[in-house]
Amino acid sequence: MAIPDLNNKHVLVTGAATGIGQATALAFARHGASLLLSDINATALETTAQQVRALGACCRTFVVDVTDASAMARFAADVHAAVGPLDVLVNNAGIAYLGPFVHTPLDWWHKVVQVNLMGVVHGCHFFLPAMLGASGPRHVVNVASAAALAPACNMSAYAASKHAVLGLSDSLALEHAASQVGFSVICPGVINTPIAAMQGGNVARVISAGQVERLGQYYRDKGAPPDVVADAIIDAVRRGKSMALPGPYARLIYHLRRLSRTVLMKLILIDSKKMGWL
Ligand SMILES: NC(=O)c1ccc[n+]([C@@H]2O[C@H](COP(=O)([O-])OP(=O)(O)OC[C@H]3O[C@@H](n4cnc5c(N)ncnc54)[C@H](O)[C@@H]3O)[C@@H](O)[C@H]2O)c1
Repeated sequence: MAIPDLNNKHVLVTGAATGIGQATALAFARHGASLLLSDINATALETTAQQVRALGACCRTFVVDVTDASAMARFAADVHAAVGPLDVLVNNAGIAYLGPFVHTPLDWWHKVVQVNLMGVVHGCHFFLPAMLGASGPRHVVNVASAAALAPACNMSAYAASKHAVLGLSDSLALEHAASQVGFSVICPGVINTPIAAMQGGNVARVISAGQVERLGQYYRDKGAPPDVVADAIIDAVRRGKSMALPGPYARLIYHLRRLSRTVLMKLILIDSKKMGWL
């Protein structure tokens, strides 16, 4: 449901410590919203909160792991006690894993699915019922990826988790079409954020340090700043858009996929060879 005026609206952003989440928190603050920010990185989250408060916006922080269902339940209870049902929920927290499928340990499959998919599920599970039960327009934003439309090589777990977020988001939109809660799924292309540094041990052993560095350089050279995604999120909420494709290649991938999956897959293969993945 469109929310044209964000002034004094209660907006929760997960994964708000860095990158797209941080930029999104700042963008909502500039529109007069009151922020509830969460992340596992307490220090960086506090830095974001200080920047949000410097813009004159009210900001509460919560150190919560989106994969922890009990912690998310407590988080929702605390938020509801403090401000009531959310106006806007942005499920943004996410991680990457880099490596070929056969060299992706199951532990990493579980981690990626837990954060990228179950993190979004937990956000919706614990916050959506109160939003549905409240009056007035509300909105849920799920951050997927262009990898939800077309995979890149060496990102099978990531691509699978983001395809799932897209499917979940569409299901939610259909089930609640008659409600006052709207849903947007955001599929960003290449965005220059800390995620591309791959610093969480989330790289298969067969991937060399040089390849990781080349990926980082690619994101630095070609990546759009995270504000591009933040602006798209704000626009999606204010206009009630069901999908946004911000940043390099996202729109191209979307349209190419509609035109011909075969051509799209061939182009991705060419690009993967250029990157030295195959
Ligand atoms: N950067 C890109 O090119 C790109 C493209 C498409 C989609 N995305 C998606 O955008 C979202 C934000 O990514 P980003 O690029 O800003 O990366 P980022 O690493 O800068 O931000 C991710 C944030 O999520 C937090 N986080 C990670 N695991 C968490 C957990 N278990 N619980 C709570 N918080 C957790 C991190 O601490 C970090 O602050 C992710 O869902 C990512 O998949 C990014």
